[in-house]
Amino acid sequence: MTQKLVAGMRLVVASHNAGKVWEIKQLLAPFGLDAVSAGDLDLPEPEETEATFAGNARLKALAAATALGLPALADDSGLEVDVLGGAPGVYSARWAGPTKDFALAMKKVAEEVSARHGWAAHGAESGPKANFICSLCLAWPDGETELFEGRVDGVLVWPARGGNGFGYDPMFLAKGQTQTFGEMEPAEKHAMSHRSRAFAAFKAAKLEGLVALEALASCRAAQGAGAYEGLAAAAANLSTQAELATFIGNLRADLETNRAQWQNDDLASFLEALQRWIAGNRNLEEEPRWRLLAKALLAGSRTG
Ligand code: IMP
Repeated sequence: MTQKLVAGMRLVVASHNAGKVWEIKQLLAPFGLDAVSAGDLDLPEPEETEATFAGNARLKALAAATALGLPALADDSGLEVDVLGGAPGVYSARWAGPTKDFALAMKKVAEEVSARHGWAAHGAESGPKANFICSLCLAWPDGETELFEGRVDGVLVWPARGGNGFGYDPMFLAKGQTQTFGEMEPAEKHAMSHRSRAFAAFKAAKLEGLVALEALASCRAAQGAGAYEGLAAAAANLSTQAELATFIGNLRADLETNRAQWQNDDLASFLEALQRWIAGNRNLEEEPRWRLLAKALLAGSRTG
Protein backbone atom coordinates (compact mmCIF):
# COMPACT_ATOMS: atom_id res chain seq x y z
CA MET A 1 0.00 0.00 0.00
CA THR A 2 1.34 3.45 -0.85
CA GLN A 3 2.22 5.70 2.08
CA LYS A 4 0.54 9.06 2.67
CA LEU A 5 1.87 12.59 3.09
CA VAL A 6 0.10 14.43 5.91
CA ALA A 7 0.11 18.11 6.93
CA GLY A 8 3.02 19.01 9.20
CA MET A 9 5.16 16.18 7.85
CA ARG A 10 8.77 16.98 7.06
CA LEU A 11 9.62 16.37 3.42
CA VAL A 12 13.16 16.54 2.09
CA VAL A 13 13.72 18.26 -1.23
CA ALA A 14 16.62 16.16 -2.48
CA SER A 15 18.38 18.77 -4.57
CA HIS A 16 21.32 21.13 -4.17
CA ASN A 17 20.12 23.38 -6.97
CA ALA A 18 18.88 26.64 -5.43
CA GLY A 19 16.45 27.26 -8.29
CA LYS A 20 14.81 23.86 -7.98
CA VAL A 21 14.64 23.96 -4.19
CA TRP A 22 12.94 27.34 -4.39
CA GLU A 23 10.39 26.15 -6.97
CA ILE A 24 9.58 22.97 -5.06
CA LYS A 25 9.26 24.75 -1.71
CA GLN A 26 6.86 27.26 -3.28
CA LEU A 27 4.78 24.38 -4.52
CA LEU A 28 4.69 22.54 -1.21
CA ALA A 29 4.10 25.56 1.04
CA PRO A 30 0.31 25.75 0.61
CA PHE A 31 -0.06 22.13 1.70
CA GLY A 32 1.42 22.53 5.15
CA LEU A 33 4.38 20.29 4.44
CA ASP A 34 7.61 21.22 6.17
CA ALA A 35 9.96 21.21 3.18
CA VAL A 36 13.67 21.20 3.89
CA SER A 37 16.44 20.87 1.34
CA ALA A 38 19.08 18.15 1.32
CA GLY A 39 21.70 20.93 1.13
CA ASP A 40 20.39 22.52 4.36
CA LEU A 41 20.77 19.13 6.07
CA ASP A 42 24.37 18.77 4.79
CA LEU A 43 23.52 15.67 2.84
CA PRO A 44 26.07 14.99 0.08
CA GLU A 45 24.79 14.90 -3.49
CA PRO A 46 24.86 11.39 -4.96
CA GLU A 47 26.35 10.96 -8.43
CA GLU A 48 23.72 10.64 -11.16
CA THR A 49 24.84 7.30 -12.56
CA GLU A 50 21.61 6.08 -14.18
CA ALA A 51 20.90 6.26 -17.91
CA THR A 52 17.30 7.50 -17.56
CA PHE A 53 15.63 10.53 -15.95
CA ALA A 54 13.43 8.21 -13.87
CA GLY A 55 16.47 6.25 -12.69
CA ASN A 56 18.33 9.37 -11.58
CA ALA A 57 15.30 10.88 -9.83
CA ARG A 58 14.81 7.60 -7.97
CA LEU A 59 18.48 7.38 -7.03
CA LYS A 60 18.52 10.91 -5.58
CA ALA A 61 15.21 10.57 -3.70
CA LEU A 62 16.12 7.17 -2.25
CA ALA A 63 19.58 8.31 -1.12
CA ALA A 64 18.02 11.19 0.87
CA ALA A 65 15.06 9.19 2.25
CA THR A 66 17.18 6.31 3.53
CA ALA A 67 19.96 8.56 4.92
CA LEU A 68 17.55 10.84 6.81
CA GLY A 69 14.64 8.53 7.60
CA LEU A 70 12.22 11.01 5.99
CA PRO A 71 10.19 11.01 2.80
CA ALA A 72 12.14 12.73 0.04
CA LEU A 73 11.28 14.24 -3.30
CA ALA A 74 13.78 14.49 -6.15
CA ASP A 75 13.51 15.40 -9.79
CA ASP A 76 15.65 14.86 -12.80
CA SER A 77 15.04 16.81 -15.93
CA GLY A 78 16.59 17.85 -19.17
CA LEU A 79 16.35 18.66 -22.83
CA GLU A 80 16.03 16.00 -25.51
CA VAL A 81 16.69 16.88 -29.15
CA ASP A 82 15.35 14.43 -31.75
CA VAL A 83 18.06 15.00 -34.35
CA LEU A 84 20.71 14.41 -31.65
CA GLY A 85 19.18 11.05 -30.73
CA GLY A 86 17.76 12.47 -27.49
CA ALA A 87 20.97 14.27 -26.40
CA PRO A 88 21.84 16.09 -24.23
CA GLY A 89 19.18 14.13 -22.27
CA VAL A 90 20.34 12.99 -18.85
CA TYR A 91 23.58 14.85 -19.56
CA SER A 92 21.81 18.23 -19.94
CA ALA A 93 23.51 19.73 -16.88
CA ARG A 94 26.88 18.18 -17.75
CA TRP A 95 26.95 19.75 -21.23
CA ALA A 96 27.36 23.08 -19.43
CA GLY A 97 30.69 21.97 -17.93
CA PRO A 98 31.89 22.34 -14.35
CA THR A 99 30.91 26.01 -14.12
CA LYS A 100 27.37 25.23 -15.36
CA ASP A 101 27.65 27.75 -18.14
CA PHE A 102 24.51 27.30 -20.24
CA ALA A 103 25.50 29.91 -22.80
CA LEU A 104 28.19 27.36 -23.67
CA ALA A 105 25.85 24.37 -23.50
CA MET A 106 23.30 26.04 -25.80
CA LYS A 107 26.05 26.85 -28.30
CA LYS A 108 27.14 23.24 -28.20
CA VAL A 109 23.58 22.05 -28.90
CA ALA A 110 23.27 24.52 -31.79
CA GLU A 111 26.58 23.32 -33.25
CA GLU A 112 25.69 19.65 -32.92
CA VAL A 113 22.36 20.33 -34.65
CA SER A 114 24.26 22.18 -37.42
CA ALA A 115 26.67 19.26 -37.81
CA ARG A 116 23.65 17.06 -38.59
CA HIS A 117 22.10 19.70 -40.88
CA GLY A 118 19.27 19.89 -38.36
CA TRP A 119 18.60 23.60 -38.89
CA ALA A 120 18.61 23.46 -42.66
CA ALA A 121 16.07 20.65 -42.68
CA HIS A 122 13.44 22.97 -41.20
CA GLY A 123 11.74 26.14 -42.42
CA ALA A 124 11.89 29.45 -40.57
CA GLU A 125 8.79 28.59 -38.54
CA SER A 126 9.62 25.12 -37.32
CA GLY A 127 13.02 24.31 -35.92
CA PRO A 128 14.42 20.92 -34.98
CA LYS A 129 12.09 18.98 -32.68
CA ALA A 130 12.95 18.91 -28.99
CA ASN A 131 11.27 18.38 -25.67
CA PHE A 132 11.88 19.06 -22.02
CA ILE A 133 11.16 16.20 -19.67
CA CYS A 134 10.91 15.93 -15.90
CA SER A 135 10.79 12.80 -13.75
CA LEU A 136 9.77 13.35 -10.16
CA CYS A 137 10.27 10.66 -7.56
CA LEU A 138 8.89 10.46 -4.03
CA ALA A 139 10.86 7.97 -1.94
CA TRP A 140 10.13 6.65 1.54
CA PRO A 141 12.69 5.49 4.14
CA ASP A 142 11.59 1.86 3.68
CA GLY A 143 12.58 1.97 -0.01
CA GLU A 144 9.13 2.49 -1.53
CA THR A 145 9.20 4.88 -4.50
CA GLU A 146 6.53 6.58 -6.62
CA LEU A 147 7.22 8.19 -9.97
CA PHE A 148 5.51 11.11 -11.72
CA GLU A 149 6.41 12.48 -15.17
CA GLY A 150 5.82 15.63 -17.20
CA ARG A 151 6.88 16.59 -20.70
CA VAL A 152 6.60 19.58 -23.01
CA ASP A 153 7.16 19.31 -26.76
CA GLY A 154 8.49 22.02 -29.02
CA VAL A 155 11.29 23.07 -31.32
CA LEU A 156 14.69 24.71 -30.96
CA VAL A 157 15.47 28.24 -32.12
CA TRP A 158 18.83 29.86 -32.77
CA PRO A 159 20.06 32.40 -31.80
CA ALA A 160 18.71 31.98 -28.30
CA ARG A 161 16.14 34.57 -27.15
CA GLY A 162 15.15 36.03 -23.78
CA GLY A 163 16.50 36.78 -20.33
CA ASN A 164 13.95 34.98 -18.15
CA GLY A 165 14.34 31.40 -17.05
CA PHE A 166 17.56 29.42 -16.93
CA GLY A 167 19.42 26.57 -18.63
CA TYR A 168 18.24 25.89 -22.18
CA ASP A 169 15.12 28.10 -21.87
CA PRO A 170 16.22 30.77 -24.37
CA MET A 171 16.52 28.25 -27.23
CA PHE A 172 13.27 26.33 -26.59
CA LEU A 173 9.97 27.22 -28.22
CA ALA A 174 7.05 25.17 -26.89
CA LYS A 175 4.52 23.91 -29.44
CA GLY A 176 2.06 26.63 -30.51
CA GLN A 177 4.02 29.45 -28.81
CA THR A 178 5.78 32.46 -30.33
CA GLN A 179 7.96 33.24 -27.32
CA THR A 180 10.78 31.02 -26.09
CA PHE A 181 10.77 29.87 -22.46
CA GLY A 182 13.44 32.54 -21.95
CA GLU A 183 11.11 35.27 -23.25
CA MET A 184 7.97 34.23 -21.39
CA GLU A 185 7.00 35.62 -18.03
CA PRO A 186 8.01 33.02 -15.42
CA ALA A 187 4.35 32.35 -14.54
CA GLU A 188 3.53 31.67 -18.17
CA LYS A 189 6.34 29.14 -18.50
CA HIS A 190 5.34 27.68 -15.17
CA ALA A 191 1.80 27.04 -16.40
CA MET A 192 2.99 24.72 -19.17
CA SER A 193 6.42 23.42 -18.19
CA HIS A 194 7.48 19.78 -17.91
CA ARG A 195 8.21 20.37 -14.22
CA SER A 196 4.75 21.75 -13.44
CA ARG A 197 3.18 18.86 -15.36
CA ALA A 198 5.15 16.35 -13.31
CA PHE A 199 4.15 18.27 -10.17
CA ALA A 200 0.51 18.29 -11.22
CA ALA A 201 0.62 14.49 -11.40
CA PHE A 202 2.35 14.37 -7.99
CA LYS A 203 -0.15 16.80 -6.51
CA ALA A 204 -3.17 14.91 -7.81
CA ALA A 205 -1.86 11.65 -6.37
CA LYS A 206 -0.34 12.80 -3.08
CA LEU A 207 -1.48 16.28 -2.03
CA GLU A 208 -5.21 16.39 -2.69
CA GLY A 209 -7.12 17.00 0.51
CA LEU A 210 -4.09 18.44 2.30
CA VAL A 211 -5.01 22.15 1.98
CA ALA A 212 -5.33 23.82 5.37
CA LEU A 213 -6.07 27.47 6.15
CA GLU A 214 -3.04 27.96 8.33
CA ALA A 215 -0.97 26.51 5.52
CA LEU A 216 -2.23 29.23 3.20
CA ALA A 217 -1.14 31.85 5.72
CA SER A 218 2.31 30.31 5.96
CA CYS A 219 2.42 30.30 2.15
CA ARG A 220 1.86 34.07 2.11
CA ALA A 221 4.65 34.50 4.66
CA ALA A 222 6.91 32.29 2.57
CA GLN A 223 6.26 34.46 -0.48
CA GLY A 224 7.76 37.52 1.29
CA ALA A 225 10.95 35.57 1.93
CA GLY A 226 10.54 34.00 -1.50
CA ALA A 227 11.50 37.23 -3.25
CA TYR A 228 15.04 36.89 -1.94
CA GLU A 229 15.17 33.17 -2.62
CA GLY A 230 14.05 33.81 -6.20
CA LEU A 231 16.81 36.38 -6.68
CA ALA A 232 19.38 34.06 -5.10
CA ALA A 233 18.24 31.19 -7.32
CA ALA A 234 18.57 33.37 -10.42
CA ALA A 235 22.03 34.57 -9.36
CA ALA A 236 23.10 30.96 -8.85
CA ASN A 237 21.82 29.77 -12.23
CA LEU A 238 21.96 32.49 -14.86
CA SER A 239 24.39 32.13 -17.75
CA THR A 240 23.68 34.78 -20.36
CA GLN A 241 23.88 38.55 -20.80
CA ALA A 242 20.09 38.74 -21.31
CA GLU A 243 19.48 36.80 -18.10
CA LEU A 244 21.72 39.22 -16.19
CA ALA A 245 19.80 42.19 -17.62
CA THR A 246 16.54 40.64 -16.38
CA PHE A 247 18.13 39.92 -13.00
CA ILE A 248 19.16 43.57 -12.57
CA GLY A 249 15.60 44.65 -13.45
CA ASN A 250 14.25 42.28 -10.79
CA LEU A 251 16.77 43.54 -8.25
CA ARG A 252 15.61 47.12 -8.89
CA ALA A 253 11.96 46.07 -8.49
CA ASP A 254 12.90 44.38 -5.21
CA LEU A 255 14.46 47.64 -3.97
CA GLU A 256 11.13 49.34 -4.55
CA THR A 257 8.97 46.71 -2.88
CA ASN A 258 11.26 45.33 -0.16
CA ARG A 259 13.49 48.30 0.66
CA ALA A 260 13.37 47.54 4.38
CA GLN A 261 15.24 44.30 3.76
CA TRP A 262 18.10 46.03 1.96
CA GLN A 263 21.04 46.54 4.28
CA ASN A 264 22.65 48.82 1.71
CA ASP A 265 20.08 51.10 0.18
CA ASP A 266 22.41 54.03 -0.41
CA LEU A 267 25.14 54.01 -3.01
CA ALA A 268 28.12 54.36 -0.65
CA SER A 269 27.19 51.40 1.54
CA PHE A 270 26.15 49.40 -1.51
CA LEU A 271 29.54 49.91 -3.13
CA GLU A 272 31.30 49.13 0.11
CA ALA A 273 29.39 45.85 0.51
CA LEU A 274 30.12 44.97 -3.12
CA GLN A 275 33.83 45.62 -2.57
CA ARG A 276 33.82 43.58 0.65
CA TRP A 277 32.16 40.61 -1.03
CA ILE A 278 34.48 40.64 -4.04
CA ALA A 279 37.64 41.12 -1.95
CA GLY A 280 36.63 38.45 0.54
CA ASN A 281 35.67 35.69 -1.87
CA ARG A 282 37.92 33.02 -3.29
CA ASN A 283 37.40 31.14 -6.57
CA LEU A 284 35.46 33.93 -8.23
CA GLU A 285 37.37 33.34 -11.49
CA GLU A 286 35.58 30.02 -11.83
CA GLU A 287 32.14 31.62 -12.15
CA PRO A 288 30.67 32.39 -15.59
CA ARG A 289 31.12 36.17 -15.83
CA TRP A 290 27.44 37.18 -16.02
CA ARG A 291 26.65 35.01 -13.01
CA LEU A 292 29.55 36.46 -11.02
CA LEU A 293 28.26 39.97 -11.61
CA ALA A 294 24.75 38.95 -10.52
CA LYS A 295 26.06 37.34 -7.34
CA ALA A 296 28.17 40.41 -6.54
CA LEU A 297 25.20 42.75 -7.06
CA LEU A 298 22.97 40.62 -4.84
CA ALA A 299 25.63 40.35 -2.13
CA GLY A 300 25.98 44.14 -2.14
CA SER A 301 22.22 44.67 -1.94
CA ARG A 302 20.50 42.60 0.70
CA THR A 303 20.21 39.26 2.39
CA GLY A 304 17.08 37.24 3.01
P1 IMP B 1 19.20 17.97 -13.33
O1 IMP B 1 19.54 18.90 -12.22
O2 IMP B 1 20.07 16.79 -13.43
O3 IMP B 1 17.74 17.67 -13.40
O4 IMP B 1 19.59 18.81 -14.62
C1 IMP B 1 18.66 19.27 -15.46
C2 IMP B 1 19.29 20.19 -16.47
O5 IMP B 1 18.41 20.20 -17.58
C3 IMP B 1 19.38 21.60 -15.99
O6 IMP B 1 20.62 21.92 -15.49
C4 IMP B 1 19.05 22.39 -17.24
O7 IMP B 1 20.18 22.55 -18.00
C5 IMP B 1 18.15 21.49 -18.03
N1 IMP B 1 16.76 21.85 -17.74
C6 IMP B 1 15.87 21.19 -16.99
N2 IMP B 1 14.71 21.85 -16.91
C7 IMP B 1 14.88 22.98 -17.60
C8 IMP B 1 14.04 24.10 -17.86
O8 IMP B 1 12.89 24.23 -17.42
N3 IMP B 1 14.58 25.07 -18.62
C9 IMP B 1 15.82 25.01 -19.11
N4 IMP B 1 16.65 24.02 -18.89
C10 IMP B 1 16.18 22.99 -18.15
